[in-house]
Amino acid sequence: MIPDCSVDLAPTNPRELRLRNPVIAASGCFGYGIEYSGVIDVQRLGAFVSKGITPRARAGNPMPRITETPAGMLNAIGLQNPGIRGFVRKYPRLWEQWEVPAIVNISAEAVEDYAMMARILDEQPGIAAIEVNVSCPNVAQGGFCFGWDPEMSADVTRAVRAATSLPLIVKLSPGAIDLAEVALAVEAAGADAISMINTLVGMTIDVRSRRPVLANLTGGLSGPAIRPIAVRMVYQVAAAVRVPVIGMGGIMTLDDALEFFLAGASAVQVGTAIFTQPGVLIRLIDQIVAWLERNGFDALSTIVGMAQPTSPRTHARNLASARTAAG
Ligand SMILES: Cc1cc2nc3c(=O)[nH]c(=O)nc-3n(C[C@H](O)[C@H](O)[C@H](O)COP(=O)(O)O)c2cc1C
Repeated sequence: MIPDCSVDLAPTNPRELRLRNPVIAASGCFGYGIEYSGVIDVQRLGAFVSKGITPRARAGNPMPRITETPAGMLNAIGLQNPGIRGFVRKYPRLWEQWEVPAIVNISAEAVEDYAMMARILDEQPGIAAIEVNVSCPNVAQGGFCFGWDPEMSADVTRAVRAATSLPLIVKLSPGAIDLAEVALAVEAAGADAISMINTLVGMTIDVRSRRPVLANLTGGLSGPAIRPIAVRMVYQVAAAVRVPVIGMGGIMTLDDALEFFLAGASAVQVGTAIFTQPGVLIRLIDQIVAWLERNGFDALSTIVGMAQPTSPRTHARNLASARTAAG
């Protein structure tokens, strides 16, 4: 029998977020899906997440805005996108014809703007879920990142929850001091699922010009370089919350994806790997099924969180030590 790899990422939401398989293309690394339709069979994916959409159109940051780093990349694209109104004119009607669930990633610098975009998306066809990117500066709080603070993250979640009944995924920022605390706050505020992690802020300097390589000075670090951090954070958050966790950060191979499932992720997202090997998403889907079959598991859900301790006492101790390490 073929193992069951399906997953519902919003089990308590009547609108559900049912995926045929747990492999999702990550935001910012897969355009709007259409760009890859001649390259891979997009309809086979578990789902895909759009580029980050903002209240108004953005041209993005000046060049250079991408640079390679050891085992990763640093990007400062600056959320280039057509804005929520430009976005809804084009993509929802197109996606309505597609089988693959399309998830829209939204970013804003004010709580009301997140809610405004969620209200607009709620009325659109072809949208399976919203992913809220809280790794953005909160202008009302002097630019402090929403995602670094449990209350600010919960404020955004609550406002989006009130604006839409669509399945709601909140994407956590690895810059928070205690990510489990942020995760618990957004869960209580109505998130159906949590995705993690977004990029970590980094910088490289060109020793010849003696200037930072990126015009923006800093950028988001992604790829295998961040994977052990991402796995640790998923392990820590999955132990704390009840809602499904979607893990990402440097997944290139089957073993990388398995690490996230064993840590407690119900699904995975893949970003940076797509730039060098667009076929990686489909390959992972096939390899996950084959691996489960080979190892005698009849469902993916059986291995989710298998690396978590079974006894409640060890569980509490591990969670505490994960928190200390994070602090
Ligand atoms: C070029 C680029 C653009 C990205 N744009 C977004 C974005 O618009 N919104 C968002 O939430 N995450 C964005 N991300 C973060 C990814 O979705 C993902 O969280 C991160 O890269 C870690 O996964 P990876 O190592 O598999 O790439 C971007 C990442 C890259 C590399």
